[in-house]
Amino acid sequence: MIDLLLGLQWGDEGKGKIVDVLTKNYDIIARFQGGPNAGHTLIFDGNKHVLHTFPSGIFHKTALNIVGNGVVIDPVIFKNELDNLSKYNIDFKTKLLISRKAHVILPTHRLLDAASEKMKGKGKIGSTLKGIGPTYMDKTGRNGFRIGDLEFKNWQTKYKNLTKKHLKILDFYDVNLDYNLEDLESEFFNAIEILRTLTFIDSEEYINNAIANGKTILAEGAQGSLLDIDFGTYPFVTSSNTTAAGACTGLGVAPNKIGEVFGIFKAYITRVGSGPFPTELFDEDGKTMARVGHEFGATTGRPRRCGWLDLVALKYAVQINGVTQLNMMKGDVLSGFEKLKICTSYNYKGEEITYFPYNIEEENTSVNYTEISGWQEDLTSMTNADQLPKNLKDYVIFIENFVGVPVKIVSVGPDRKQTIMV
Ligand code: GDP
Ligand code: IMO
Ligand code: MG
Repeated sequence: MIDLLLGLQWGDEGKGKIVDVLTKNYDIIARFQGGPNAGHTLIFDGNKHVLHTFPSGIFHKTALNIVGNGVVIDPVIFKNELDNLSKYNIDFKTKLLISRKAHVILPTHRLLDAASEKMKGKGKIGSTLKGIGPTYMDKTGRNGFRIGDLEFKNWQTKYKNLTKKHLKILDFYDVNLDYNLEDLESEFFNAIEILRTLTFIDSEEYINNAIANGKTILAEGAQGSLLDIDFGTYPFVTSSNTTAAGACTGLGVAPNKIGEVFGIFKAYITRVGSGPFPTELFDEDGKTMARVGHEFGATTGRPRRCGWLDLVALKYAVQINGVTQLNMMKGDVLSGFEKLKICTSYNYKGEEITYFPYNIEEENTSVNYTEISGWQEDLTSMTNADQLPKNLKDYVIFIENFVGVPVKIVSVGPDRKQTIMV
């Protein structure tokens, strides 16, 4: 069986932290979609690590890590991740396996991302500028460059042909981009040589054999359900299926092999980049969440927009993913609020609804809140469920009743140890 761990909001829920906590229970950790747009933060032994492409099991000696076919890989960022972890003496050749079917982000994909965003002006998606959209466009357009291509002698010809096409498209964009392709390519080719020292596999074969041999696997999602290409707040989304189905296509596992589905959410909600956000706060409460929660993007450093927990959106994400258990993150950040608000319905085009509709732009959607008493206690040194304040427990029960799935982990700080099983 293979368990899934997914973000249920607009990303940055704390997936990396929980994967790291759970890795001791698994033989294999596998990323199934997204690319270095992700930033997964792990904190332990006083050190902080932000992972972009590597699965978050990489620090555990016992686990094998797989970058699945659904992931897009930027060799330059990949090499940086390897360099950053060099002091840990991890045997990457045996501990980090890469799918041959994963697509490669070329320097010109990044340029295309930048050009597209620049041309959109105010209507921009606010992408991470990592080339994610253009790389997935080439994948679905059947022009992509895959990791397995590197094993062929003529890979440079393939690279050149695709780059040539990209440069033509870049000309088409009516924007000025400042770049030096020679420099970008020299960095890219250098990184490719490092990448080629790692192990490329047919990961779907590997994973299915592992399942057949009784190995335990955790699939690690990136981004969050509200950024899913089909079910998110389109077009302000990423370019992959971030939801449970993405794990099937992104690793080559059948739906009937899926066991637990861990759904990760923050006790409030954040978003980085553009797009609608019904419970967004512009007042002191939002500023407090941002300050106490250190809400800055792990990949881009941009400030994250903050708002009250949106249960309409959470219920939608639980449904689409088939979540079997919830993990509530950052409860500690809400300590000190006298009253907490939870969005329990939308007013959508003049009607009160509790489902997530086609579009949630401000002109169509306003929110209705239920108020709940907050907790004042500092949670950060609590270690077991009995210590949690009654008001937090009531908050959790309210959520469970609304979405119909139990909360099994309450996270009370960023460190691996600040994790309470409830
Ligand atoms: P991911 O992309 O889902 O892995 O999440 P990020 O790492 O981008 O963002 C989550 C941030 O919250 C990181 O800075 C974590 O260190 C931090 N974090 C995770 N869990 C908690 C928690 O329970 N409390 C607090 N205060 N911080 C947390
Ligand atoms: P993790 O895995 C939060 C957002 C970007 C932008 C939109 C599209 O750390 O949760 P893209 O570069 O994918 O084309 O950008 O998606 N975004 C994320 N927001 N966390 C992420 O990843 C994100 N990855 C992309 O900010 O709004
Ligand atoms: Mg993140």
